[in-house]
Amino acid sequence: MVRSPALLLAAVLATAALCAAPVAARFVIEEGGLRVVLPDDAKKQYPQGFDMALANFGAPRYGGTLRGRLIYIHSDFKQTASCAPANCSYACQDLTKANPPVDLRSESDETYIMLVDRGPPAPGAACKFAEKVWNVQQSGARGAIVVNYEDKMTTMEAPDEDDEANLKYLTNITIPAVFVNKTTGDALRKLMEGGSKAIYVSMDWTDILPRKQQVFWEFWTNSNDQCGPVCDVQKQFIKEFVPVAKEFDSHNWTVFTPHYIVWICPTPYRASAECTSQCIRNGRYCSPDPDGNLTAGYEGRDVVQENLRQLCVFQLAKDAGRPYLWWDYVTLFGEKCDMDSKKYGHDCAMQVFAEINKDSWSSVAALEACIGEEKADAPHPIMDAQMVAQKGNETSGSGEVFILPTIRINGAQYRGKMATAEVLRAICAGFVEGNMPQACSKAMDDACMVGGKGYQDCAARTDGKTQCVNTFSGYNCTCGHGFIPHKEPSGEETCLDINECLSVSQLDPKCTCERCACKNLRGGYECVTDIPNECANNHGGCWHADLKVKGKTVTFSGCKDNLAAYKDALAHGLPTDGVPLHTCTCPPCFTAVEKGGAIMCTPKCSLDYCDLDVGVCHAEPGAGGGVGAGGIALIVLLCVGILGGGGYFAYQYRLRSMMQQEVRAIMSQYMPLDDADAMEGVGSRLKRLASNGGV
Ligand SMILES: *[C@@H]1O[C@H](CO)[C@@H](O)[C@H](O)[C@H]1NC(C)=O
Ligand SMILES: *[C@@H]1O[C@H](CO)[C@@H](O)[C@H](O)[C@H]1NC(C)=O
Ligand SMILES: *[C@@H]1O[C@H](CO)[C@@H](O)[C@H](O)[C@H]1NC(C)=O
Ligand SMILES: *[C@@H]1O[C@H](CO)[C@@H](O)[C@H](O)[C@H]1NC(C)=O
Ligand SMILES: *[C@@H]1O[C@H](CO)[C@@H](O)[C@H](O)[C@H]1NC(C)=O
Ligand SMILES: *[C@@H]1O[C@H](CO)[C@@H](O)[C@H](O)[C@H]1NC(C)=O
Ligand SMILES: *[C@@H]1O[C@H](CO)[C@@H](O)[C@H](O)[C@H]1NC(C)=O
Repeated sequence: MVRSPALLLAAVLATAALCAAPVAARFVIEEGGLRVVLPDDAKKQYPQGFDMALANFGAPRYGGTLRGRLIYIHSDFKQTASCAPANCSYACQDLTKANPPVDLRSESDETYIMLVDRGPPAPGAACKFAEKVWNVQQSGARGAIVVNYEDKMTTMEAPDEDDEANLKYLTNITIPAVFVNKTTGDALRKLMEGGSKAIYVSMDWTDILPRKQQVFWEFWTNSNDQCGPVCDVQKQFIKEFVPVAKEFDSHNWTVFTPHYIVWICPTPYRASAECTSQCIRNGRYCSPDPDGNLTAGYEGRDVVQENLRQLCVFQLAKDAGRPYLWWDYVTLFGEKCDMDSKKYGHDCAMQVFAEINKDSWSSVAALEACIGEEKADAPHPIMDAQMVAQKGNETSGSGEVFILPTIRINGAQYRGKMATAEVLRAICAGFVEGNMPQACSKAMDDACMVGGKGYQDCAARTDGKTQCVNTFSGYNCTCGHGFIPHKEPSGEETCLDINECLSVSQLDPKCTCERCACKNLRGGYECVTDIPNECANNHGGCWHADLKVKGKTVTFSGCKDNLAAYKDALAHGLPTDGVPLHTCTCPPCFTAVEKGGAIMCTPKCSLDYCDLDVGVCHAEPGAGGGVGAGGIALIVLLCVGILGGGGYFAYQYRLRSMMQQEVRAIMSQYMPLDDADAMEGVGSRLKRLASNGGV
């Protein structure tokens, strides 16, 4: 038994189109753009990118992009992962149990997008689209690209059968899925085939929907509630979406219109049992029998009549300036008047209407007048309007509605699961940039939140652009804490490291003690404490001697604490391997003599006549005078000191100008975001339908 409206619709509408429509109906395959982003040579080969057809299930990222590394599993394809049997590339099995297993779940720092094959056209050769995507999701990949076996596009549908597995696919697939033609698939596989480089692609949903100041959206539905998982999901969606729809409509951010699909009975058959049972107003407006049995249960005409009632409720609510009351009516009707409890129909509907009309914004008489006589042999303007709207308008790019339920946003059809988060996201992507209500921010996932994709990506960058900025169509990495933006002569923006050790006036006190140092790091600094004094321990192994000077014993040590040089290296972020903590040199008044690899020191003159601080020998009584080598060394050192000081002031000056830039950088974070890169988006294009039954 076929109960899904999608299939029934396809079957019956074919008739409707044949007898009623001189203009061929068109189904629009909603498409986004797929691009190669890395490596550069691969990107240059396909500057235009590829078309990808959105699946009608899963979680599309309207208004955004998904970037990830392409992976394809096939026994003859060693690029990323191989698996057996050869047809594992159809993803019709649990990939985590394939041989060898494909398990990407633990690789949290890499986003994988998996390419899978649709499989040969032979019936039963491969599985349903949704099953493939489910397996891809279970393997840990974050996106699925299904490659056709021929050069045609299609909108992948969820399966129609009424079972638990399908409900799982409809509600639990949380990754986006798209479809590409064979040429595209071959091109992507060829890029990967070399195997040496990882191929990164970006799936792009930014420009699929027309953007408007005020978003116009339509919900195409049917009041029939016996259609298996599809109806259950739709009911759940309506229930959850009410507060959102009301909020957006009452603020005039959006204009919402509900629509119902209308079937028709070909004129020669109007008197037939099929048509009298499934149609109202003499075969003009019909709906398929909910249970497929014309002589049992509810009939199609019960459904059309309720559809008309709901449309009239909307009409009255709109006239009263409260169009969103339609949501209250349908939720309440869904709860109280369902077919299973045999309450579906006029009486229950009127109770529901009375309930939502408590404050008398309308009346039962007005509702009855709008609905009119079920058996009247006359057209109804509201129902006729449904048929016109269903056809869409090719000039403005809105295609015919073929799938139930369907959402049309600014004329384009939403493709993806019927769930609050996904639909809200799509509606939000329909606003012109800058006009998106604040309420949308929760819909567009914040890639920059801690642990989010953007947060991780930016944090891992080595060029200083470690700060993640949410652009709503993705994220952008900008100069992080400890860096300041700098424009290169080429116009490129880079980030300069701030040396906190030299610039910050109040360093952590742990950095400033006697045997502490400040170590500059990219984007920050760190304190090094308890730097050992190696000379305190047996003179660091250097020469030392206790000698008599003017009758007193003085300890001379060849160990020189190198702390200052060590601190300096750390402060400049230089490696300290070449900077020992002590050196062995002879103290003033001594000259070095190498003995067996060790430095020994011998007095260069009598210590009694040597200035122990500077090492200048004075004339011994009776010996020749002159300026010692030590004196010259001192003068040279002083000059170096002065030059160094000049350098320091120049540095301070540069620092000040940098600080102002830093303030500017901070300010810029509070300014409006730049427009998203217009070149990234690939507009949606019209394509003819190649229908599929979910496989
Ligand atoms: C396949 O898709 C690509 C874009 O992805 C398009 O350029 C090409 O024309 C398509 N091939 C056919 C035969 O439709
Ligand atoms: C894959 O191939 C194996 C044997 O080669 C076959 O048993 C299996 O049914 C195939 N699976 C699919 C999904 O085609
Ligand atoms: C589907 O999601 C629901 C709700 O999140 C969960 O309870 C259920 O176990 C999931 N089903 C599967 C098969 O993962
Ligand atoms: C929304 O628009 C209607 C009609 O254009 C107007 O009456 C109403 O005041 C508007 N509401 C808000 C919140 O702007
Ligand atoms: C329709 O329902 C009637 C009454 O319940 C039953 O006798 C008949 O077999 C059903 N027909 C089909 C095709 O299921
Ligand atoms: C279709 O759209 C075009 C452009 O938006 C508009 O001019 C035309 O009137 C529309 N046609 C119908 C039948 O609504
Ligand atoms: C991302 O940052 C770069 C450099 O600051 C800027 O040129 C670009 O416009 C930004 N993009 C977005 C979408 O904000």
